[in-house]
Amino acid sequence: MVRIAVFASGTGSNYEAIMKYADQLAVPDIQISLLVCDQPQAGAIAKAQQWQTPVFLVQRRQFADKKAFEQHILLRLKEDKIEFIALAGYMRLIGPTLLNEYYGRIINLHPSLLPTFPGLDAVGQALSAGVKVTGVTVHFVDAGMDTGPIIAQQAVTVDDCDDHESLSRKIHAVEHDLYPRIVHQCATGQIYLDQGRVCYRVLSSLRSSEE
Ligand code: GRF
Repeated sequence: MVRIAVFASGTGSNYEAIMKYADQLAVPDIQISLLVCDQPQAGAIAKAQQWQTPVFLVQRRQFADKKAFEQHILLRLKEDKIEFIALAGYMRLIGPTLLNEYYGRIINLHPSLLPTFPGLDAVGQALSAGVKVTGVTVHFVDAGMDTGPIIAQQAVTVDDCDDHESLSRKIHAVEHDLYPRIVHQCATGQIYLDQGRVCYRVLSSLRSSEE
């Protein structure tokens, strides 16, 4: 079982999608062992309680600086033997304290086709730009804002009648389908980072049938 922490600041619908996915795996080889949340009002907390995932609520303002904040999180991740981190609407840049420990084992989900529309309100940015296609990106986290090596992308059509709410809904539907699968594949090493490149492990059953 690969022990995963999900980091969330918001409603937690992607956290819940990951839980549902993990719950129906024929071979349960991942476990969502912790929800890390920096917002006491986040909907993700109630969802985690329903799914009986331990919640680690940690607020940035209780620490002198980002380093101390992340050291506190890191301690808990180590105590809980967390091997992989999935950011799911976590509204903070990951700093060197966490990144040094988890680089290549931490991924993020972003509601646009990166590198277009990084940062806040990617849905609003897409609507303002008037694009006809936007989408969803999953990427390994690096020190930048939504800049790490891209693992998967899926397009979403922007219709003339779309507003922020309807486009967000379409994007969320794609995220809920895509992200849990990628979390599973990355956490179990089927997809991995090697010298900054995203690599795919060939399944041994496939290889032997080809030999
Ligand atoms: C998602 O749209 C994700 O792409 C972005 O934050 C949102 C989180 O949504 N990073 P939720 O809290 O999982 O519903």
